[in-house]
Amino acid sequence: MVKLNDNRVLITGASAGIGAACARAFAEQGAKLLLIARRGDRLRELSDQLTRDHKTECLCVEFDLRQHLSIPSMLEQVPDEWRAIDVLVNNAGLARGVAKLHEGDLDDWDEMIDVNVKALLAVSRTVIPWMLKRQAGHVINIGSIAGHEAYPGGNVYCATKFAVRALSRGMKMDLTGTPIRVTSIDPGLVETEFSKVRFKGDTERAKLPYKGIIPLTGEDIAEAVVWSAMRPAHVNITEMVIFPTAQSSSTLVHREEKA
Ligand SMILES: NC(=O)c1ccc[n+]([C@@H]2O[C@H](COP(=O)([O-])OP(=O)(O)OC[C@H]3O[C@@H](n4cnc5c(N)ncnc54)[C@H](OP(=O)(O)O)[C@@H]3O)[C@@H](O)[C@H]2O)c1
Repeated sequence: MVKLNDNRVLITGASAGIGAACARAFAEQGAKLLLIARRGDRLRELSDQLTRDHKTECLCVEFDLRQHLSIPSMLEQVPDEWRAIDVLVNNAGLARGVAKLHEGDLDDWDEMIDVNVKALLAVSRTVIPWMLKRQAGHVINIGSIAGHEAYPGGNVYCATKFAVRALSRGMKMDLTGTPIRVTSIDPGLVETEFSKVRFKGDTERAKLPYKGIIPLTGEDIAEAVVWSAMRPAHVNITEMVIFPTAQSSSTLVHREEKA
C-alpha cells in the first residue's frame, strides 16, 4: 500500500462536493493539499478546518479555470515545493441545463467545454511534466457515467465526459513505460451542488434527480479516489464506475415513492 502522508495532492474544484470531500479524505491520510476553485472563501474555510483537525498544510489558489490559457502561468507561480505533485485530481466540472441540442445555449456549451475539457487538459499538460521529472505521480480524472452513455438532454455535458474518458485512456497510453498512473473515477448520481449549478440555482428542480433514492455522497467518491491512490505502485486502477444501488444506467433509476 502506498502511504500518502506528506504527499502533495492538487485538487481542482475543491470548494464543494466531490472535490471538497477528496480534500478531507486526503487530509485524513496526512497529505498536503493544493486546492483550486473560484470561491476562495470556501477554500480558505476548508483549509482552516483541515489545518485545525489534521495539521494539514494547504495552499489555496482562487482561480477561474475557464481561463485555461492562463493555467500554466498560474501553476508556474506556486512556490517550488508545490511542483512536487504526487496526486493530481482533475475534478472541477459542471453541467448546464438539459436543453435538447437544437435548443441549446452556446454560452452553456462553452462553459462546460472550457472547464470539463480544456482546463483538465491545461492542468494535466502542466503537471504531468513535473511528475515525469520526478518519475512519480498519479493522475485521477473525475469522469462520469455520462462519459459511457449519452442521455436525453445530456448532449454536450455527455460529450465533455466522453472526452474525459478518451483523455484518461490516451494519458494512460502516452505514459506507458513510466511510473505515472492514470485513473478515471466515473460516478452516477452524487448529491452535491452539481444539480443546483445545472439548473442555475433552481433548488426545487435540483432536488428531483435525487428524489426517492439514496444517492452517492461526495465522501463515497472520495473514498474510491483515495483507495486508488493508495494501491501499491505496480497497481493501476484504470477505470471505476460507481452507481448508487438504485441506479443501473444514466436513465434507469428505481425511485421509491414516499407516502
Ligand atoms: N454530482 C454528480 O452526480 C456527478 C456525477 C458524475 C460526475 N460528476 C463530476 O464530478 C465533478 C465534481 O462535481 P460535483 O458533483 O462535486 O459538483 P459541485 O458540488 O458543483 O462542485 C464543482 C466544483 O467545480 C468547481 N468549478 C466549477 N467551475 C469552475 C471554474 N470555472 N473554475 C474553477 N473551479 C470551478 C467548483 O468551484 P467554484 O464554483 O468555487 O469555482 C466546485 O468546487 C465534476 O467534474 C462533475 O462533472 C458529478
